[in-house]
This record gives sequence, C-alpha cells and structure tokens, in this order.
Amino acid sequence: MNTIKNIQAQASLFGITEDNKTCKNTQEYIEIYEKHHLSYEYVDMQDVTFKAGLNETIHNWFRLTPSYSPELVRFFVNYLECKENHLLLEPFTGKGTTLIESQKLGIPAIGIEINPLLQTVSEKSLSWDYQIIDLKNTLQIIENKFIEIKNQEKDTSIEDFCKKYAIQIPPIHNVFRWWQKEVLKELLLLKKIVFQIETNLQNPFWVALSSVCLECANIHRNHPTISFDDNHTRIINVWATFLEKISRIINDLQKVNLLTNNKLSKIILGDSTKIERILTTEKIDRIITSPPYPNRFSYIHTTRPQLYFMDIIQDAKVATDIDIDAIGGTWGRATSILDKKVLLPNPEIANILSDFIALLQPKSLLMSNYAVKYFNLMHSHIKSLKPFVSEQFRGVYVVGNSRLSDVEIQTEILLAKIFEKEGFKVDKIMVFRKRGGKIKLFETGICVSV
Ligand SMILES: C[S@@+](CC[C@H](N)C(=O)[O-])C[C@H]1O[C@@H](n2cnc3c(N)ncnc32)[C@H](O)[C@@H]1O
Repeated sequence: MNTIKNIQAQASLFGITEDNKTCKNTQEYIEIYEKHHLSYEYVDMQDVTFKAGLNETIHNWFRLTPSYSPELVRFFVNYLECKENHLLLEPFTGKGTTLIESQKLGIPAIGIEINPLLQTVSEKSLSWDYQIIDLKNTLQIIENKFIEIKNQEKDTSIEDFCKKYAIQIPPIHNVFRWWQKEVLKELLLLKKIVFQIETNLQNPFWVALSSVCLECANIHRNHPTISFDDNHTRIINVWATFLEKISRIINDLQKVNLLTNNKLSKIILGDSTKIERILTTEKIDRIITSPPYPNRFSYIHTTRPQLYFMDIIQDAKVATDIDIDAIGGTWGRATSILDKKVLLPNPEIANILSDFIALLQPKSLLMSNYAVKYFNLMHSHIKSLKPFVSEQFRGVYVVGNSRLSDVEIQTEILLAKIFEKEGFKVDKIMVFRKRGGKIKLFETGICVSV
C-alpha cells in the first residue's frame, strides 16, 4: 500500500488542494482509501479523455466525448498483461476505443453496447479489410452522383425533393432546428447514395456519414453535451465535410490494411446488466472498460440526431425505452418516471449505498434515484459477469466521481465494495489526473481479479 507521504506528494498533480472547497482535501482521500483497505496508486497520464484520440488512426473517425483515450487502453493492456490467447470483454463499448486497440494488437474481444448507434459505429469501425482502390472508386461514383443530382435539384424545396426521391425527413422533434433546410437536403441526398453502396463496401462511408450529419448540424459541441446554435453564421459545406472525413478514413485503412487482425472482435447489441443473455460458454480473461458515471449524462439523448438520421430509430418511445434500461443519466420521460417515487437499492448492496442515500435523498429525490439506479444496474452487471470470468481473470473499470446536489459520490469506492460483495478481489485503485471543469472531478481505474 502507498504511504501517506507518497500520496501527499502526488496530490497536487491531480488537482486536490487543501483549500479547494469543491473537493476533498488530501488527508481525506488518504483516510478514505486506507479506511476501506484499498491499495492505490497515482498514474500521471497526459490526457485520459476523448481528445487524445482525435489525432489517432481509426479513433478519430467518430467523436464521442465520454470516450476515453487510446493511450489509457494501451496502459491497461500492458498493466493487465493482455495476451493474444486471452479473451477480452468490453461491456460498455461506446465507439469502440478498447476494441480498436485490442484488434490492432491481435487480441480477440467481445464488445457489448446498448445504444444501437454506437454498437453499429464500433462494429463498422472494426471492419478493416478492403481493397483501397475499391474504396477510392466508390468515392468517385458517390461524388459524381451527388454533384449531378445536387445541380439538377438546386431549385427544388426539401419537401418536394424528398417526395420525388422517396426520402423520409428524419422524424426527430424540431428537425429544422437541428439542420438548415438546404444542408439537410444535401445530407439526405448523400445518405441516399451511401445507402445504395453494396454492403461489403459500405461501412467506411456509413461511419463517415454518421459523423458528418452531426458536424453539419446547427449545434455547438460542448464537452460533454451538445446544444443548439440557433444564430450561427457558419457556412456549412456538406460535400467538403464528407470528403475530408472519408479521405481520412480511407487513409487510415490504407495503414491498418497491412494488419491481418480484421474481424477479431464482435460487438453485440445488448445489455451488460444481463450478461447471461449474451454470453454462453465463453470465459472472459480480461476486461478493459469505462462504464457510464453516476451523473445526468444520457448517451441516448446526445446521439439522438444520428439515431434518427441514420434510420436506426423512428420514434421517441424507442429512445426512451433504451434510456430507461441504460446505465447513466436519462432525459425526458425516462427522467419523469425516475422522479416519481423512492427507488430502493438492491438489498445486497443497501448497506454500501446507505451513507450517500441518507445525505442525498433529503436534498433531491431525483438525484438520489439517479445514483441508486446507477449502482443497482452496475451491481446487476457485476453479479451477472461473475459466472463468465476465467480463473486468470483481471480487469479494469475506469470511472469518475460525481457531485449530485453537492453530495460527492465516490464511485470508485462504492463500486469496489460491490465487486468485493460479489466475490471479486479489488487489487488496486489507479488515480488519474483530474477531469476539467470548475468542480474538481477525477478519474480512477478499479483494478479487479478473482
Ligand atoms: C463511458 S461510455 C464508454 C466509452 C468507451 N470506453 C469509448 O471509449 O468509446 C459508456 C457506454 O456504456 C453504454 N451503456 C450504458 N448502459 C449499458 C448497458 N446496460 N449495457 C451495455 N452498454 C451500456 C453507453 O451507451 C455508453 O456507450
């Protein structure tokens, strides 16, 4: 176990200062980890967020702000001594950061993701086996068709254009707030052409389009959410945006094409709180993952424009249903449901959650229910995972602490207790540099084994 002196020396590195009212002081951290008999270590990592991946091959194809950095995955691949004969599980795949890295290294892996957009993006981002000349020829065909029809229909309204080509305007609420009419008309034309590409060549173009449809929307991309930009003066060039994205993708594929690891991973659309419905006889040797955090961030809400635009969902009810099942924040009707009555913790973990519930519930029923829902579902995940881990299992869960109604939720400690309750060993808590923002939040990796 680390010494008090050691963590005091390191504390300033991760932004914990004695006079900072918004976070615990050094002594409190030391006391908490030691009180819970948790071994800990500080890791000085430059950037553990999505930003680090924006300049990396394949990782930059799709932007998902809550994703973690490829560097962090590589760190844990080494730390956990992942080998080519191990089976790796990523139960919260997101856009596939872990699986892109494991596939590059030749480690077979299974990913699980509840959000159908992210499941599709990650699956298609792992398909690397193309003849580059075929992709370039396809791009030329798309460009010719796009320019021809765009010029031909330049005076046609979006409504008439959609009627003429039997195209559906995305059934998202307030669609023309999301996209200017002319921009949407061009995006829909591009989509029609991309969706006509033969299946085995379509993946890279599909990923480019799913990314470009958001880049061309009337929005700001704040970290970690998006908001409308109603008064923008930005000139949006749909073709140029698409061309830039797909050229980068083809360029990346040219590099990874040399590798022979294509299709070493499969990504399953499913719910990781019910592992028994997904795995059968497989035994998992390693996990490298970052599950959602206990906060209000909804993965469904932030991917809604793409879910509708890419024809993955057609109505709001489907989005709400996924939001209800998913771990993490909710929005709209899923939040109203959560706000109605006290949500009880799963009986097996009630004593682990009792301290924060006592503080949080009187302040905000909704926030307390948010956190209880989060830990209940994480508990179900951990419990359902246990029968599927091999004897040599080792894993890491990267999580962040949260502050709900001014009550700090020490996610790593509570999850560590839940892992122990379900028969796992907690080997170490790795503490990384803080996350940005005014409120001092930081990230940790819970390292577990059996
Ligand atoms: C923090 S993100 C993971 C990001 C990922 N590490 C990356 O770099 O892209 C958490 C992911 O868990 C997914 N998720 C939430 N609840 C889930 C569940 N019950 N089963 C499977 N995936 C779930 C969310 O949709 C989200 O994509």
